[in-house]
Amino acid sequence: MEIRSHDILLVGGGGAGLRAAIAAAEVNPKLSVAVVSKVYPMRSHTVSAEGGAAGVAKPDDSLDEHAYDTISGGDWMCDQDAVEAFVKEAPLELLQLERWGCPWNREPDGHIAVRAFGGMTNKRTWFAADKTGFHMLHTLFQTTLKYQPITRYDEYFVTKLLVDDGRVQGVVAIEIMSGKIQAITAKAVILCTGGCGRVFPFTTNANIKNGDGMALAQRAGAPLKDMEFVQYHPTGLPFTGILITEAARAEGGYMLNKDGYRYLQDYDLGKPQPTPVLRSMELGPRDRLSQAFVKEDQKGRTIPTEYGPVVHLDLRHLGEKLINAKLPFVRELCVKYQNIDPVTELIPVRPVVHYMMGGVSTDINGATPMAGLYAAGEVACVSINGANRLGSNSLPECLVFGARAGHAAAEFAASQKAPNGSVWTQATNEVLRLEQQYLHKTSGRERIATLREEMQKTIEAGAGIYREEASLKQARQKIQELQERFENVGLDDHGRTFNTELISALELGFMLDVAQSIIECALYRAESRGAHQRTDFPKRDDQKFLAHSLVRRSSDGSLSVDYLPVKITHWPPGERKYGEGSHKASKQTKVS
Ligand code: FUM
Repeated sequence: MEIRSHDILLVGGGGAGLRAAIAAAEVNPKLSVAVVSKVYPMRSHTVSAEGGAAGVAKPDDSLDEHAYDTISGGDWMCDQDAVEAFVKEAPLELLQLERWGCPWNREPDGHIAVRAFGGMTNKRTWFAADKTGFHMLHTLFQTTLKYQPITRYDEYFVTKLLVDDGRVQGVVAIEIMSGKIQAITAKAVILCTGGCGRVFPFTTNANIKNGDGMALAQRAGAPLKDMEFVQYHPTGLPFTGILITEAARAEGGYMLNKDGYRYLQDYDLGKPQPTPVLRSMELGPRDRLSQAFVKEDQKGRTIPTEYGPVVHLDLRHLGEKLINAKLPFVRELCVKYQNIDPVTELIPVRPVVHYMMGGVSTDINGATPMAGLYAAGEVACVSINGANRLGSNSLPECLVFGARAGHAAAEFAASQKAPNGSVWTQATNEVLRLEQQYLHKTSGRERIATLREEMQKTIEAGAGIYREEASLKQARQKIQELQERFENVGLDDHGRTFNTELISALELGFMLDVAQSIIECALYRAESRGAHQRTDFPKRDDQKFLAHSLVRRSSDGSLSVDYLPVKITHWPPGERKYGEGSHKASKQTKVS
């Protein structure tokens, strides 16, 4: 088997991965840094981010306000030391990105243009029209090209982390084009593989977001944190799940029920005003808006369609000029995928799985509890997003914690010896496993698509916007059954070249592990907080659950859950209030 070696290995070539690679290369240009990505980096999911990236930019705004919005938006599940570091470094990262070439929108006087976003007390979302992710990823990608030490393994799929002596020392990966399986060793590995929206049937996430990094880390022995917190974005196009950015509401779009009524006024989110009000109505947080949709549906006030009930997003009053200038991509997506023009027609929308607040547990520098293993971006849980992420915090999260993880990994790698021979034995065993379980097996009877569809239906029914003990227990049992059936999965393609069926099978294996972790954590958390709403425990319970859940997998596949206290620095738990005039941050002196 071919073995390649580097000092630092990034798994994932999206926003966090490329930012981490640049940081590592800058710390020490002598380090050999490599990026392994299952897609060409410009096809990473960051490219589809639309609305913008949050970072304090105006003199009437403050880091404390950004921190407070993030913490209250996260229903006090955020680690406040991480949030403080995040809000401080986010504007610096966004400026750095501009110096590397990111074309942020600007005001006529030359200042950076910022827009409102849900749950924020001030306009602080930087944007490049409504194609922010595309421009950010392009900027990062072109910047990596100038760093000689960065090697790329494009279209390589990682199947396993190599661990020896409690230290992560590399990966086994399949080169998708040739099917060649190889070990890539490293002194430090940084996971930047994104989230796992594809575990659910209806999601904004690209097909590549299968929880690969979460499952790889957990199988290697690292805990996953806060997996029960799954974010539904309130405005996805029915059928495709394509995101209609929150920026559409920030620019003044209305949410209407079947009667043309702005129903959010019935859900403690303020009253309709002539112009959009921060933290109010359509600019409320995503968890509350998605929950309001469910209630509205229960009242019979949604519109039935062949793809499920919808409400309407109304942009017509914004006018063609504004839509073309600020929301051109929204218009393009509506025309191409929904066959409607938002200049003159209502957009049908419904909540859609968008983001995982949970992920691989890391500290403030992206280090996991396993030596040599780091994580950043959506795959990680630092945790700055708590129980509900605010829109536009995830792109800067990729930058801030990608850079931090890159620095920390570079420092760690400098003091490590090269990986030893035992990981090569592990790599050889992994090749045998892949051949026996998939490539050479002819007896498998289970179909990938069937299992995947059953998994998606199960998790949506059992652990959707609202959950309860009975639905979660049923889902747990069903996913366990699917895990057993997965052992009997069979491929039609036994070739090596571009064997995408093999990749789909491996992704399904990862997704089943992630689905189990989500359900397990949701079952143990007997309270309602942020995006985790238990109908049998409708209240937040700080006495018992102001704590992060950590879910571990043992070698027999069983899961165990324990808890880690949330770090509170300045903002003691309070009530989440939205609507006009509700947004005063209550910063206190240091809380021990
Ligand atoms: O609506 C949006 O543009 C999404 C942004 C985000 O998830 O941060």
